[in-house]
Amino acid sequence: MWGGRFASAPDSIMEEINASIDFDRALFRQDIAASRAHAAMLAKTGVITQADAAAIDDGLTQVLREIEAGEFTFSRALEDIHMNVESRLAEIIGPAAGRLHTARSRNDQVAVDFRLWAREAADQLDAQLRDLQIALAERAQEFADAVMPGFTHLQPAQPVTFGHHLLAYVEMLGRDRARMQDARARMNECPLGAAALAGTPFPIDRHMTARALGFDRPTANSLDSVSDRDFALELMSAAAICATHLSRFAEEIVLWTGPFFGFAKLSDRFSTGSSIMPQKRNPDAAELVRGKTGRVIGDLNGLLIVMKGLPLAYSKDMQEDKEGVFDCVHTLSLCLAATLGMVRDMSVDRARMKAAAGAGYSTATDLADWLVRRLNMPFRQAHHVTGRIVALAETNGVGLEQLALEQMQTVEPAITIDVFSVLGPEKSVASRTSYGGAAPANVNAQAGTWLKRLKREDVKHPG
Ligand code: ARG
Repeated sequence: MWGGRFASAPDSIMEEINASIDFDRALFRQDIAASRAHAAMLAKTGVITQADAAAIDDGLTQVLREIEAGEFTFSRALEDIHMNVESRLAEIIGPAAGRLHTARSRNDQVAVDFRLWAREAADQLDAQLRDLQIALAERAQEFADAVMPGFTHLQPAQPVTFGHHLLAYVEMLGRDRARMQDARARMNECPLGAAALAGTPFPIDRHMTARALGFDRPTANSLDSVSDRDFALELMSAAAICATHLSRFAEEIVLWTGPFFGFAKLSDRFSTGSSIMPQKRNPDAAELVRGKTGRVIGDLNGLLIVMKGLPLAYSKDMQEDKEGVFDCVHTLSLCLAATLGMVRDMSVDRARMKAAAGAGYSTATDLADWLVRRLNMPFRQAHHVTGRIVALAETNGVGLEQLALEQMQTVEPAITIDVFSVLGPEKSVASRTSYGGAAPANVNAQAGTWLKRLKREDVKHPG
């Protein structure tokens, strides 16, 4: 492509470090779509003839077919997807192919191809996130009244319901989707036509190519257009936060399915055995979601580090952007699919959850709140009185709701039989009717609201 100036071929190690075709071939659809839009625009503005544009378009259609059919021979000597496509186009249509690269450069080409890819990735991840939200909300409805221990410091704190716990993730994924959509909206500007870095003297119409490729508008500054990888960083930031959510959930699945908790079980379809310990049922999928989150975060860090010292405009360092982004998106997509599978697969042991929810004096706060509400006791004093009653129950080896009224009255004579209306995990949970609280009625209503909203949504499914 630059034979005019160069007399000898590159050293083989030069070719190896320089070539990106082994991974950027994944951009072939985007590359061809952008070239077709560019050629049509060049013809419309009179930069090339209609006849050449038609030949280019036909040729590119054939190249696309050949790649899709697996009949295309990718060449490392041609470095990247852009030159592989253009070179094959020249073989097919002859010299007219040489006019396609008028008023553009590989710098704006790769920027537009990669944005198109990232845009589709954001849509695909968003659609997967929606499916996972639906599955979680459906199971939340199923378990709206299934009491389980709520934890702080991984110590039983106050009873909640399993449905309430699952809805917490529906909220998190909702924010993940908003971040994906936000990143998508911001990246939807077209860098094509910025050329190498300074724009071009040809009378191109950047609005036309932007429109043809589904962008909202062309990018405003040619230097920024070819230097910016914010769109990839934002996509990966959203992905890293999302993966972190999935990882926390995965960690909980590992805990819940272990013999000490025993709250949930994954079927054989989502468990693995041990080659040496026959009794084992390992939650490998959950562990891998947790583990792969490290990769996703690493991919984000990798590109941040590549970008942080780069002067404007394009530097070849930026070719290092693609593998991490591809890996990040593929990995998150796999984690989302695996999490969806586990959510649908998981069976839940209500009785065990309920027993655990009642253990550890988890309704002590309910007792303290009762003292405040019924006896008008200051909360600090109620906390102290409750502490003494808990100690009494502990000495007698019973739960709070099993302690006789008379015994409670030895600590606080004003306590009445009504106190039992808040003791016990089910009563505790039922009383938490504050907005966003764990009461089954709340959980049911919120799950219903989510499901209605999610099922009404018209999500752009890719492809
Ligand atoms: N393969 C290159 C990349 O991915 C395309 C841009 C090359 N531009 C250049 N001036 N060498 O970044």
